[in-house]
Amino acid sequence: MIRMFDYQALLPEIRDDMDQAFHRVLDSGRLILGPETEAFEREFAAATGARYAVAVTSGTMALYVALKALDIGQDDEVITVANTCSPTIAAIRMAGAHPVFVDVDSDTLMMDTGAVSEKVTARTRCILPVHLWGSFVDASELNRLSSDLGIPVVEDCAQAMGTRYADRQAGTFGAMGCFSFYPTKNLGAYGDGGAVVTNDSALAAKLRLIRMYGYDGSAVSEIAGVNARINELQAAFLRIKLEKFPNWQNRRLANAEIYNKRLAGIARPKVPDHVVHSYHQYVVLSENRESVMSNLLQNGVESGIHYPVPVHRMPAYNEFCVPLPTTESAATKVLSLPVHEGLVPEQIETVCRQILKISDF
Ligand SMILES: Cc1ncc(COP(=O)(O)O)c(C=O)c1O
Repeated sequence: MIRMFDYQALLPEIRDDMDQAFHRVLDSGRLILGPETEAFEREFAAATGARYAVAVTSGTMALYVALKALDIGQDDEVITVANTCSPTIAAIRMAGAHPVFVDVDSDTLMMDTGAVSEKVTARTRCILPVHLWGSFVDASELNRLSSDLGIPVVEDCAQAMGTRYADRQAGTFGAMGCFSFYPTKNLGAYGDGGAVVTNDSALAAKLRLIRMYGYDGSAVSEIAGVNARINELQAAFLRIKLEKFPNWQNRRLANAEIYNKRLAGIARPKVPDHVVHSYHQYVVLSENRESVMSNLLQNGVESGIHYPVPVHRMPAYNEFCVPLPTTESAATKVLSLPVHEGLVPEQIETVCRQILKISDF
């Protein structure tokens, strides 16, 4: 079976390092926020080109602590998209704020930056684009809007580790960039994890406070905080994967390039100008998605849908629902093909051959 995700495929390459990391942490006497976390934060900041990284328990918590670091709370408004995974919206609601949805651009399926201004009200506190699938929002337009309007951008980079826009990495355009290390992600932990990156030292300090009860060196909460601490084992494991990341990411990009060439006639979301896509998901568009998926599965190929129901149409977020025709139409067609770095080119060729046999793709 050619699988969508298979963390065991690459384990042999790092098994010894993982074993050593495990024993190093056990022998260190520190299980939470210790030297592994500090080292990982330095290394992750360097990898993204940001000054500071604050490691947390998940991508959801990364978004939450970032919104709280901007003092976003009850009834504030956050402009975002519904073409995302639901935790983007869960984090906004956890902060007490309201998601205000804009539609996506019909070519790229990323936030339609041209639709943002008309959604701005006196209560707008943040613009939160989602770089879904490893693609990227129109960053130059968004930065212009953000500085004209004086509203900060928080990037949802949960799926965008390794994505570049011109010479900058995802996460370094807005005030903060929020990453997930859920195991399926391009940089995945062996459990949950996340991080916020920023170039702003005051925000970094505040993120650290919020991450742990609002404590500032003593058992007194200076500001309201939560428990969003990463643990030393995950930080140690992530350091190993981060070192491998450029190499493994190149394998993923090589797999994507095979699809780009072999499936050139098949519709897909446009990669925005100046963007180096990181292909967290390799997404194509099919009018006959369900039959394509079952055909592939019968021939030993898994595929996925990211995502079948846009978040504004989910029962939990009904009250924020507005019509988003492009988002809704995309949700009926998006189809993700296996692309991860544990797959070899021959396997991608097999997927291509099978797809090219399907007459009504
Ligand atoms: C776009 C997006 N945002 C946020 C998250 C939340 O990340 P986590 O699962 O680490 O909480 C995810 C996770 O899949 C995601 O894909």
